[in-house]
Amino acid sequence: MAHSNHEILQLFESALAQMNTPEEPELLYSPIIYSMSGGGKRLRPVLLLITLEAFGGNIDEAMPAAMAVEIFHNFTLLHDDIMDNADVRRGKPSVYAKWGGNVALLSGDAMLITAYKHLNRISASVLPRVMNIFSEMALEVCEGQQYDMDFESMEKVSVVDYMQMIERKTSALLSGSAMIGATMAGASDDDVKKIYRFATELGLAFQLQDDVLDSYGDESLGKKIGGDILEGKQTFLMVQAMSRADAAQREVLRTTHLAEELTNEQKIAKVKALYDALDVKHIAEQQIELRFERALNILDTLSIDSERVAPLVEFARNLMGRKK
Ligand code: IPE
Ligand code: IPE
Ligand code: MG
Ligand code: MG
Ligand code: MG
Repeated sequence: MAHSNHEILQLFESALAQMNTPEEPELLYSPIIYSMSGGGKRLRPVLLLITLEAFGGNIDEAMPAAMAVEIFHNFTLLHDDIMDNADVRRGKPSVYAKWGGNVALLSGDAMLITAYKHLNRISASVLPRVMNIFSEMALEVCEGQQYDMDFESMEKVSVVDYMQMIERKTSALLSGSAMIGATMAGASDDDVKKIYRFATELGLAFQLQDDVLDSYGDESLGKKIGGDILEGKQTFLMVQAMSRADAAQREVLRTTHLAEELTNEQKIAKVKALYDALDVKHIAEQQIELRFERALNILDTLSIDSERVAPLVEFARNLMGRKK
């Protein structure tokens, strides 16, 4: 009998709870425990395990891979908060804010290594293929993160370049997780490709939502609203606004975050007023819906029975209603 998505989450949480993290050096390991138990949604390991079960795989065998993707994800967040200068993560001080950049760097490195240690526990018969997917995905995240930083200092970024950047920084980890699940379960090459496309679209929708929530969500979300605006990030909202703005508006969009005479609240309000005038939230919402539609349509084409696909549909639908 297949498990419900909720049961899969619980199984994952209990496997994670058994993870042994050393106590010393304290400043290496306590940030790791803080991050791993900090209230993450566990999207990537759950997606990996749901996909695995959809294709008839065994959860126990894939648990180390699920742990690897979640530890890897949390590692990216430790380093991301340094790069984004972000003080708040999941409603609490980020590791970077709490312990500083050096600690966030090294604890992050240790998490990356720990992720590989867990991956190494899976069956030797699938290890080379899974290792390959994992490493490709990990490099793509690095590429996406570098483009994300490159874009900060650029005046104008095209929508196409922006979408390629988030496909790397965010979709890659979701699609990699789903492909690992499908591969470990012995899915056909054709199904693995479809699963890749499904999770890629889902990841794009997810990052676009993240961009909208960063400016329009509320603080119960666990992040500081307006962080992207204050950092001068090229988000989907900013990219769309820049392509629709006149020269004077473009100047405001790209320089407001640097204005020394304004408070943070004033900067955020000023940029959001332009977003509203240019109707970019609406454009983002349409694009989010389109990407979710595409993701769901791909699921219809898998070779497995619809009842086996149902948990994946449910996963995607839950993500659509995401509030945090
Ligand atoms: C945050 O991912 C980083 C993005 C890709 C937007 P999640 O929202 O999945 O992070 P947690 O683990 O649930 O906090
Ligand atoms: C998420 O990008 C991508 C990675 C962490 C790899 P963001 O920088 O938008 O994520 P949040 O908003 O800080 O969670
Ligand atoms: Mg970032
Ligand atoms: Mg960030
Ligand atoms: Mg964000």
